[in-house]
Amino acid sequence: MDYIVSYNVFSNIEELGNYFANLFKDRSEELLRNKRNINIALSGGSTPKLYLSKLTGTPFLQNIDWNRIHFFWVDERMVPPTDIMSNYGSIKEFFFDKIPVPEENIHRIKGEIVPQLEVRRYGNEILNNVGKKRNNLPEFDWILLGMGNDGHTASIFQNVELKDEFQNITAVSKNPETSQTRITITEAIINNADYVTFIITGKDKVETVFEILKGDKKKYPAGRINPVNGILEFLLDKEAADMLIENEKL
Ligand code: 6PG
Repeated sequence: MDYIVSYNVFSNIEELGNYFANLFKDRSEELLRNKRNINIALSGGSTPKLYLSKLTGTPFLQNIDWNRIHFFWVDERMVPPTDIMSNYGSIKEFFFDKIPVPEENIHRIKGEIVPQLEVRRYGNEILNNVGKKRNNLPEFDWILLGMGNDGHTASIFQNVELKDEFQNITAVSKNPETSQTRITITEAIINNADYVTFIITGKDKVETVFEILKGDKKKYPAGRINPVNGILEFLLDKEAADMLIENEKL
């Protein structure tokens, strides 16, 4: 079965965030009908704050079964959790500190640990909690992705070789612009998920968004994401979707 691709365009971030919050509630309910727990992987960067923070208010605080949702990261900058660059540290402040999710449901990548050790520890944490369910690989229920202006996603960058790969689950990467060391889940893990949602905003991504949806997909890592047994969807604000919209009018 090929993957299904859909995209939704929103007038602004407020509208996108409200849609996301209701999607999160409905999809977690749907997934929890057949499972004891579900596993969701979060991205870092600045976009997640725009949509995750919507879940920290009513009615979502009360009507989502937080005890049965486990959170992982798609990647992390290898800095301590208190560092301003930490993906975990940032999401903890605006999200985890405001929702009733049990501590044991939060599976951070430990940026303070030597990368060559942490890549294995985190890979084993995924194996022990998510398990190998499809293609002999862990199968996340839902992976939330962002995309850089250069078309990277997670910490999978164009022409940057992943090192110290652990069982095709995790690897050590590097931001080519800043040389910052990172740990990332692999393309194989992302493509093994049930749902993969890109959430992309801003006019500086308009060309890359058009390219990965309508152009030369393989040109960018984000264009190589294709969850072969799942659903691939894009939530875009109008700015990021401008070329797509123009193209649809042609
Ligand atoms: C990271 C992210 C990365 C992010 C994109 C988009 O650690 O930086 O995981 O893949 O999703 O760079 O970042 P923005 O949301 O800040 O545009």
